[in-house]
This record gives sequence, structure tokens and C-alpha cells, in this order.
Amino acid sequence: MLNWDEFNAEDTPAPINDAVKAAAKTAVEAPRSPSAPAPSEIEPFDAPAPRFIKAAAPEAADPIAQAKQAVAALDPSEGEAELAGVAERVTVDQKRMINCRADLNQLVPFKYEWAWQKYLDGCANHWMPQEINMNADIALWKKPDGLTPDERIIVKRSLGFFSTADSLVANNLVLATYRLITNPECRQYILRQAFEEAIHTHAYQYCIESLGMDEGEIFNMYHEIPSVAKKASWGLKYTRQISDPTFKTGTVETDQLLLKNLIAFYCCMEGIFFYCGFTQILSMGRRNKMTGTSEQFQYILRDESMHLNFGIDMINQIKLENPHLWNEEMKQTATQMILEATQLEIDYARDTMPRGVLGMNAAMMEEYLQFIANRRLAQLGLKEQFPGAQNPFPWMSEIMDLRKEKNFFETRVIEYQTGGALSWD
Ligand SMILES: [Fe+2]
Ligand SMILES: [Fe+2]
Repeated sequence: MLNWDEFNAEDTPAPINDAVKAAAKTAVEAPRSPSAPAPSEIEPFDAPAPRFIKAAAPEAADPIAQAKQAVAALDPSEGEAELAGVAERVTVDQKRMINCRADLNQLVPFKYEWAWQKYLDGCANHWMPQEINMNADIALWKKPDGLTPDERIIVKRSLGFFSTADSLVANNLVLATYRLITNPECRQYILRQAFEEAIHTHAYQYCIESLGMDEGEIFNMYHEIPSVAKKASWGLKYTRQISDPTFKTGTVETDQLLLKNLIAFYCCMEGIFFYCGFTQILSMGRRNKMTGTSEQFQYILRDESMHLNFGIDMINQIKLENPHLWNEEMKQTATQMILEATQLEIDYARDTMPRGVLGMNAAMMEEYLQFIANRRLAQLGLKEQFPGAQNPFPWMSEIMDLRKEKNFFETRVIEYQTGGALSWD
């Protein structure tokens, strides 16, 4: 068995040949197999059917006495078998990202300071969709010639894709990832991230409602528009298995399934699938169009770049602690996944930009996505697949790095109610 000492972080990744790139392209373009679900059949996450347990009929006449009796009889050692080995104070050495046997309820001492810091940074960046003034957007959207037809497609497709994508990410976090990541400081960040995803879905709903759009059309787009459906379906594939409540990590195969899920969601969904739509909407804002929607997207993008960085740190930590998982086959699979996601996003760019619009076109977006793909591969320690790809939109990086101290919050329309809302009456 490999151990920490045998892990070489400088391992050069095996070259991935053009055949892998071609395979990724084929996989994305290939028609669905008869067994694969059609976009219209994509199922939302379903919890197992609830089991209704009939409450015991109260027997005692005095419920207070009954409660006292129940508390007096409570045996704190109950469940000891379940807690075997986790009853002691946790040390840093016992903590692990996956398959940890130490008590997960003991947040400190921290092993992964970066995870706690990201949790604090996420809290410091808190925002709510209602804080952004949407009046200019409403006026522009309702004006018959306010936007070109191509610009309207971009707004609709973005809201259509993102309103579902953030929900898929949130579901994946709470129904799959959270349970399998066995570290409390990472779980603390995941809980923060899950709430941020809820805020993002809220932001899209807020835009859709403000602009008076057809809610059914937008929220059901991931079933109806192929370039949107394919991205959603590709992500869901990686959730299905590990969101099964009986799924457990602990074998090479299951640990790698978790790793693939993290790569699919953090690197591909949040790290690639969001970039075409974000760039389009932010480009619109830079041209003084749909500035409220664009500001919502700026906040979201800032959150998303932190989610991505957290995911990369988590994946790399799992690799470090479990080097046997990161074998040649897994590296090839990870590369293939990044390439498939890139191809899906390129297809989405072509679908949403049949012509040049907002100072950009599908070819420029393709190069941008190749640049992003190289970055994702490098972040995972894999070989870049698009040598020389440049970033045609350097202003995107500036927006992602925006800090609170800049005039980013200038347009806030309401104040937080936290202090004033408290009352002891
Ligand atoms: Fe999000
Ligand atoms: Fe996210």
C-alpha cells in the first residue's frame, strides 16, 4: 500500500494524446444511448419515499411527569457502539478529508486552515439579491427595442441554465458531498456554500420575477433546450450513484467515484459551465445594459470562484492523503472529464451566439474556454491540453478579484436588518 512518503507531488502527469481529446469531443457529440435518459426525462433528486412512523398515543395523564421520567432514564452511553473510537478529544493527526474515523463534531483543532479561512471569507462576502436595484433592467427589458433579439436570447438562456445549475450544485452538496467529506472545517464551508447556492437560485428567481419573464419557460429550459439540457444531464450523471443513501466510500472504486463527483461539480460545473453565461452577462453590464442583472452575476461569480478554489484544494488534499487513488487511469479520466465539459460549454456558446454580439463571438469564447480548461487541468496537476490558448477577456479576471472595499457595494439599496430586528418583547 502506498503511503504519504511515497507520494510525489511533483509527479509529472502522463501526456494525454489527441485521442483523448477526440474521445471527449465524440462523447459530447454522440447521441444518447437508448438507456440514457432523454433531457425531458432527467429526474430531479428524489429523497427515498418517506416512512411514516405512527406516533405513540400519549398514555400518561401528566406529560410533564412523563418528560421528567424520560430524561431521568436517558442513558448517555446509548449509541456507544456507533461512536466507538470517537469518544476522545480529536488531534490534528487524526483528521482526514475522507474515511476519517475521528469525531466529526469537534471542529477544532483545525487541520485545514484554508477551509476555515474560506468559510470566514464567504461570510464576509455575504449579500442578498434584493439589495440590487433592478429598475433600469425592468425598463430596458420592457422597451421593445431596448435589447436586440440576440441579447434577449443571452439573458433568457443564462437565467434558464443557471436557475437549474445552482440547484443541481446545492442538491449535490447536501445529498452527496457533505456526508462523504469527513472533516468538520470543510463541512462548515460546505454548509456556507450550500446557503450561497440557495442565494444564487434566489437571485435568478428575483431577476426572472422582476423582468416579468415566463417562469415556466425559464425554469424548465434544462428540459427543453438541448445545449442547456446536455450540461445539466452531464452533471447529474456524477451525482446519481453517490447520492444513494447506502453509498459508502472506503474502497478504491468508491473513493474514486467521490473524486469524480468533486471534479465534475467543482471543476466542470462551477469551473467551466458557468463561464460562457457569466462572460456574456457581464459583458452586457460593461455596455451599460441589464446592469442590475449583471451586478447580481458579479456577486455570484465572486462566490463561485471561491467555491471552485475550495473544491480544488479539497481534491488536491484527497490526492495527497490517498495517492493510490490518483493513478494513471484516474488522471486520464479527470482530463477526459475536463475536455468533455469544455466541449459542452463550447456547444452552449455556439447555441447562444449564432452571430457576434456584445463585442464577442463563439470563436472568441471557444479560445476563452480552452484557456479556462488549461487552468483547471493545471490546478489538478494535469497536463494542459490547449497549448498557447490565450484569454480574450482579461477583464473577467479583474471582476472575479473584486474586493468588498472597492465600490462594488455602491448600488446597495437596503441595509441589513440584523441588529435592529432583535427584540426581547
Ligand atoms: Fe452558485
Ligand atoms: Fe457554487
